[in-house]
Amino acid sequence: MKASKLPQHIAIIMDGNGRWATVKGQVRTAGHKAGLEVARKMAVYLAQKGVPYITFFGFSTENWRRPSEEINTLNTLMLEALDAYDQEFSRHNIRFKHLGELDRLPKNTQEKIRQVIADTKDKSGAMVSVAFNYGGRQEIVAAVKKLVQDGLKDSDINEAVLAQRLYTCGLPDVDLLIRTGGEKRLSNFMLWQSAYTELYFSPLFWPDFSEEEIQKILNDYSTRERRFGGI
Ligand code: IPE
Ligand code: IPE
Ligand code: MG
Repeated sequence: MKASKLPQHIAIIMDGNGRWATVKGQVRTAGHKAGLEVARKMAVYLAQKGVPYITFFGFSTENWRRPSEEINTLNTLMLEALDAYDQEFSRHNIRFKHLGELDRLPKNTQEKIRQVIADTKDKSGAMVSVAFNYGGRQEIVAAVKKLVQDGLKDSDINEAVLAQRLYTCGLPDVDLLIRTGGEKRLSNFMLWQSAYTELYFSPLFWPDFSEEEIQKILNDYSTRERRFGGI
């Protein structure tokens, strides 16, 4: 099957913020600030193009190993961004979703995330998900725990019942996964959901990512033969 249609679910690993800032002689967190603005622009651009599910990887469970100063600033920037984008998401008919473990995040970030989810819950346009404190392996372990808590027997367990217990419950598998910043790895992102995903690695640092670059990637995607296993 030719992937002539738009991908239904695009997931983006937004990497390269720190290097972008360092090259410019700025502090790493300046890169995170610029990166959040690019995420806002991309969310609106892709939503307007008609991509129904757009997911951004913003903070991994492994990123807690970074210096606390960077983590704190990142949290503050995320909070400010959510505050600023709440109205804009609503204006563009975007529903907001969070993927990951909310509990370990600072209380004010948790509250803001819950508020944006509530404010946009009736929107019928694109679903924009932000994976913030997300880890793919942790997600699968948490889903297995839920299966046990729900009292399922081994004969009840299949791919569908497990998928219903992932953070991504209700979202389709990822059709196109993009990683910016030049690294070619998944870094614990969407391990279950990317079983048959088309991968694209962009050399651009995330703050340099643009509408031209995403259009190039969408054109490339449309030329690919999509396969889902079998012959
Ligand atoms: C991605 O950019 C954003 C986060 C992981 C929070 P990085 O901060 O990893 O930037 P590089 O990869 O060091 O340039
Ligand atoms: C992946 O980037 C995580 C996010 C973009 C949020 P990292 O910079 O943390 O990944 P590694 O360390 O290069 O694998
Ligand atoms: Mg990185």
